[in-house]
Amino acid sequence: MSSADIVVIVMLVASILVLGVTILLLKVIRFYVKESIDPTVFATPEQKALLLKAELEAEALKKAKPSIWTRLMGLKPIAEEESLIMEHKFDGISELNNPTPAWFMVLFYGTIIVAVLYMCNYEFLGFGKTQEEEYIAEVEQANNDKLVFLASPANAKSAVNENNIVQSKDPAMLSAGAGLFQSRCTPCHGAHAEGIVGPNLTDEYWLHGGSVKEVFTTIKYGVPAKGMIAWEKSLSAQQIAELTNYVLSLQGSKPAGAKAPQGDKQP
Ligand code: HEC
Repeated sequence: MSSADIVVIVMLVASILVLGVTILLLKVIRFYVKESIDPTVFATPEQKALLLKAELEAEALKKAKPSIWTRLMGLKPIAEEESLIMEHKFDGISELNNPTPAWFMVLFYGTIIVAVLYMCNYEFLGFGKTQEEEYIAEVEQANNDKLVFLASPANAKSAVNENNIVQSKDPAMLSAGAGLFQSRCTPCHGAHAEGIVGPNLTDEYWLHGGSVKEVFTTIKYGVPAKGMIAWEKSLSAQQIAELTNYVLSLQGSKPAGAKAPQGDKQP
């Protein structure tokens, strides 16, 4: 909580206190004014009798309590309607000055109370999380999940990328790559990578570089403008690594019907 928050809270509490004291003061003033106009303490016996009668009458009126419905709707009994008529009239139609219904006032003050509680909860006390805090917490959670995901042995392989890949001649890897190549790459590169639409992948000439990292990059991100697919969307990093090693293992295999060299000769 910053010092600005503390100042705001102190001012809020102070203003509530001032409000309370003001209401109290006004009540005292009203009492004194009433008493000076119509003193009850020093009244004569006749006056006292009159007051008693008036009090009894008021009580009797109170006893004829309106129903809960009438009170909730803020309605006045029809008998009292006369007192509600407002001074103006339009075309003989007069307006009643009915009080605002209780249900409305409850809602109205309810929203104010909720707003104050809401603000305290989110702004001052910090129990609730704001949008920004929620976002930060979610990103943090996602980062933790990612670390856990990558740390598990099953997923560690997928951490291979164009920066850390090293060429492998592991037979299991090459045969996995061969299988993938047959199902995905032959339409454009040919069954033996001799080249059809796509270039011959068995010669020493490369359009995008022939190092393991460069080949991995070409397969992963593709060359969309030239018709080579970006395979990262449909293959895992591990599968792309297998394909890369398989393609490199084909160097110098001289398949039949090889396409003419494209690109630069690489050592
Ligand atoms: C839709 C046709 C198509 C498919 C399918 C395809 N490629 Fe290609 N590939 C191309 C084209 C076209 C190029 C040449 C891009 C250029 O001219 O820059 C290319 C280029 C390449 C290159 C770079 C060659 C160089 O000279 O630098 C590699 C490596 C490659 N493809 C591997 C693959 C692998 C592995 C697969 C299967 C997963 C595959 N391609 C599937 C069309 C395809």
